[in-house]
Order: sequence, then structure tokens, then C-alpha cells
Amino acid sequence: MNIQWYPGHMTRTRRKMQEDLKLIDLLCEVVDARIPVSSRNPDIDTLAGDKPRLIIFNRADQADPAMTARWIAFYQARGFGVLETDAKQGRGVSQFPAAVRAALKDKIEGWRAKGQVGRPIRVMVAGIPNVGKSTFINKAAGRKTAVTGDRPGVTRGKQWVTVDSGLELLDTPGILWPKFEDEATGLHLAFTGAVRDEIMDTETLGCHLMALLGERYPGALLEGYKLKELPAREDGENDVAWGYRLLEAAAVRRGMKISGGEADTGRMARVLLDEFRSGKLGRFTLEAPES
Ligand code: G4P
Repeated sequence: MNIQWYPGHMTRTRRKMQEDLKLIDLLCEVVDARIPVSSRNPDIDTLAGDKPRLIIFNRADQADPAMTARWIAFYQARGFGVLETDAKQGRGVSQFPAAVRAALKDKIEGWRAKGQVGRPIRVMVAGIPNVGKSTFINKAAGRKTAVTGDRPGVTRGKQWVTVDSGLELLDTPGILWPKFEDEATGLHLAFTGAVRDEIMDTETLGCHLMALLGERYPGALLEGYKLKELPAREDGENDVAWGYRLLEAAAVRRGMKISGGEADTGRMARVLLDEFRSGKLGRFTLEAPES
């Protein structure tokens, strides 16, 4: 976690993925269903070339189910295989072999026509850190211990784990770097905890999250912080200013005060981020297909 990405590291990662891609029939990209845009590195499209693809919407337990359904339809319409999972609990993982075979239907028929029977399907999993790649591989392979890449001592030779007869998975995931294309990407990765909080102070991060939830999921804030109504956004008020007023309102309701009686917005920001990440506040998807 919290790998530092520098050009040399990115080049090595890219080369390793290019090598591994030669060995496989299908590339599975794991994304965080809460942030299907920010948790992808679009470079994967170039890397993958015309390899068949499967997109795994993991952390579906934490995402807004209606939005996950829309994302799935979006990628399906563009020719990707899709699968929705909660790798932590294992939900959806049993459909993985069927999803792989569906995505490779034409190829499998081609192999059969050429008499290539018994040829195993080989697959690799890739994605940015923290989307749940290792958890997914372990669940799909039915094992408990984690094998993670980038760790000294982990065998360097290619290791394949058997998912079912005829389906093999490369046991170390391809790790892509997060791509900060704009401020929103960095913020969304920080909200979910995929990158360290230190990209900005926690209170400002909390203001941004409040403003985003206030726009998209006002009901969750009303309920979660027992507010009668949200302070209305003023004309031209930016996210930080409005988010700060939302933090204040929530802090007051939670009785969080600093000496002098002012709302403890710093503490409230930490609580908000914790409750967002743990799922206590609800299930959220911060990015829509049309964006
Ligand atoms: P990575 O290989 O992509 O870097 O991710 P990894 O599998 O290490 O998972 C990162 C964290 O996300 C782990 O939590 C893991 O349990 C959790 N996780 C993975 N998939 C899911 C999912 O579908 N739903 C939810 N809710 N969580 C998921 P951790 O904090 O490192 O450990 P722990 O709290 O599980 O002990």
C-alpha cells in the first residue's frame, strides 16, 4: 500500500504487465465500484491492446447498487465482460469462471473448431492499489493466505492458481498506478482511502466530501447526522466553503465542540471520513457513467 510512484517504477510495472499479458487469454481489471473512473488507470486500455477484457466491480457492498447496475450496463454495451463482487465476503466471486468463459466465448469456440481441447484458459488480474485485487485472487482460488506482489521473498517465477478445471489465474496481480488526471480524481481516491490522507489536510478533505455528498446524497447526510435540513448552498459558494458549513452543522448535532463552544470541524471531518469508508454512512458511488 501507499507505493510511491516514480517514473522508473512505472516503467518496470508496465514492462512486467506487458510480459504477463503475453501469457494470458483475458485481462481482468478490478475497479472500486464506488469510484469506477478514478480507480482505473486508462493506460490499461493501451497496454491491453485487443486482449479480451473483464471488468470486476469490486467493493460492490460499499457502492450504490443502482449506480453499479448503470456502470455494468455501460461497459457491457462497450463489449466488456463485467462482474460485480464483494471480494471480502466472497459475494459474486463464484460467478467469475462463468463470466470469464462468457467474455471468451468466441475464442473458446475457435479453439474447439481447431481441435484444441483441454487448453486451459489463463487470466490475470490487474488494477490500482487497494481495489481488492489480492482479496479477489485469494477468494477465487479458495485460499486464505495473501500473496502480494512487490514483496521481497515472494517467488519470482510465474505461479498459476487453479480456479476450476480449465481456468488458471496468475497469482500475483498486475499493479497499476493511480492516475491523477484532475483534482476530482485525487479527492475521490483520498475519500476512499486509496491514497494517503496527506494529499491535503483532513479538514479540507472533509469539506470536499461533505459538499459532494450534499450534492449527490443529501438524504444520507440528513439521516446520518440527524439534521432537519442541510444548510443551503449560496450562489457561487465553492465546495470547501459549503462543505465547511455542513461539517459545522453535523458537528453541532454530534455535540463536537472545542473549548469556547465552537464546532469541532476538524474532528467532525475525521469522523465523516471514517464513517464514509467503513460504510456506516451508507453506500455511495461518487462517479456516474455520463461524467
Ligand atoms: P489490493 O490487492 O488491490 O491492493 O487490495 P487488497 O486485496 O489488499 O484489499 C484492500 C482492502 O480492501 C483490504 O482491507 C480488503 O479486506 C478490503 N476489500 C477488498 N475487497 C473488498 C470488498 O469487496 N468489500 C470491502 N468492503 N472490502 C474489500 P484491509 O483494511 O487491508 O484489511 P481488513 O480490514 O479486511 O482486515
